[in-house]
Amino acid sequence: MQFYKKKLKQEHKIMRQAELANGALLQEYHRPTPECPNPERWSMYDSMTAEAEVLEFLRTLITTIKPNLVVETGSFLAVSTLWIAEGLKRNGFGRIVSCEFDPVVYARARENVANSGLADWIDLRNESSLEMQVDGCIDFLFSDSDPPIREQEVRRFLPQIKPHGILLMHDASSHLKVVRDAALKMEAEGLLSVVLLPTPRGLVIAQKRAGRQ
Ligand SMILES: C[S@@+](CC[C@H](N)C(=O)[O-])C[C@H]1O[C@@H](n2cnc3c(N)ncnc32)[C@H](O)[C@@H]1O
Repeated sequence: MQFYKKKLKQEHKIMRQAELANGALLQEYHRPTPECPNPERWSMYDSMTAEAEVLEFLRTLITTIKPNLVVETGSFLAVSTLWIAEGLKRNGFGRIVSCEFDPVVYARARENVANSGLADWIDLRNESSLEMQVDGCIDFLFSDSDPPIREQEVRRFLPQIKPHGILLMHDASSHLKVVRDAALKMEAEGLLSVVLLPTPRGLVIAQKRAGRQ
């Protein structure tokens, strides 16, 4: 319980810092890892929002694979949600369902979505990824909530992901470890094929093994 309270405070603190920074890009300051020895070559808005280059990659993946249904876990301030929605808007179809379980953070994310001009593409929910119900087959899952529960949420959504769908798990660096280990464990079980992209915080890009042709 103590750990849980601490985490919430950290998220609120970073949210305030992000508000003060007002959209300014900073140098990435996560520590170097063997796979990514120069994290300072990347940029970020804050330490919760995905790296700026990863946000661009998300939008490009959306315009590349043209998904109908995107699910995101962990909206935070909805910055990644908006980059994904921008890709959907360029495609002209699709929607993103994104969940944020902290009500204070969710309220701010909702404002950001409302002010973005992209609200029609976004279904933002104040609930946990471990409880959220999504109807339909998922083309694209971006797992970016609390690292210790990523394995659980990926396993939960896996049956709903299309055989050629794409899964991304953020924070999968060898330093953060828990998400990386979860992805490799699911690969060893034959559930996923994974590629470990060497970004500052680590990004797994994966596909289900079942049903591929
Ligand atoms: C790393 S941040 C997400 C960053 C965001 N995807 C971006 O790149 O702009 C993680 C967020 O997940 C939220 N979170 C943690 N556990 C969650 C859960 N089980 N369901 C939904 N959100 C959760 C946290 O409150 C936090 O705001």
